[in-house]
Amino acid sequence: MTRIVHLNGQWLPETEARISIFDRGFLFADAIYEVTAVIGGKLVDYAAHAARLKRSLHEIGLGLPCAEEQMLALHREIVVRNDLKEGLIYLQISRGAEDRDFIYHDGLAPTFVMFTQARNVLGNPRIERGLKVVTAPDRRWSRRDIKTTQLLYPSLVKTAAHGQGADDVFLVEDGLITEASGANVHIIDRSGTLITRALSQAILPGITRASVLEIARAGGIPVEERGFSVAEAQAAAECFLSSATSFVMPVVEIDGQPISDGAPGPLTRRLRALYLEDRLAAAI
Ligand code: PDD
Repeated sequence: MTRIVHLNGQWLPETEARISIFDRGFLFADAIYEVTAVIGGKLVDYAAHAARLKRSLHEIGLGLPCAEEQMLALHREIVVRNDLKEGLIYLQISRGAEDRDFIYHDGLAPTFVMFTQARNVLGNPRIERGLKVVTAPDRRWSRRDIKTTQLLYPSLVKTAAHGQGADDVFLVEDGLITEASGANVHIIDRSGTLITRALSQAILPGITRASVLEIARAGGIPVEERGFSVAEAQAAAECFLSSATSFVMPVVEIDGQPISDGAPGPLTRRLRALYLEDRLAAAI
């Protein structure tokens, strides 16, 4: 099916949407993006994604390209136009196009793109078997709290990991895990405490992470926000990822070392169930 995509206020078949070769998103990765899950045709955690989008844009000196209500209306319309039941909405806003120059100038018209991807999010077979991950040094830039399109490094290391038969990569800096290539990383220790890295400029403030922590606390699961090493994660009772495209995803092996018995853990399963129950009921 040819998707209908959004480009600067227009709805177009995907094959007809065109942007300039001078777009700063293309030349400099001078762009912000968001990924919002769609389940049952509804937006999951939309308000939080919209708030993070605004913050990311602000951090690079941009504003929203349209009013907030219009942004929500566009999200709803793209779901309807593409008859999207389950999958995601990808949104990207770049600073716009001008002749190539490291110095950017005021008054550029931003490039605003949205498209959908149909995906089997809830029934992903990896949920049952869990992910195998490898580790790599975190060589991304130091403002990972801003959701920019500078994804070359995570893309290179994840592709290399796939080549070695792994599903994903844990990035490591100063002896501690920062994130996975496109998800936050959490462990559960032997006493049942959920441990996750505290927010800082070193990691993306994941929307799913925030929801999972809220749901864990409400469900009586103790939460500790602090860094942890690869060795601590390998010795943990359980490990999982969180992101808009995987929700709560078990990790069962790190650098060839199985976590506990090498199967998705019970608290991870419980958190996933609680997350789905809570967030899908609140989807709009
Ligand atoms: N990635 N950390 C990084 C580096 C990410 O790219 C993502 C999301 C997350 C999780 O954030 P959230 O829970 O808000 O999705 C953490 C998206 C899904 C992507 O790039 O496709």
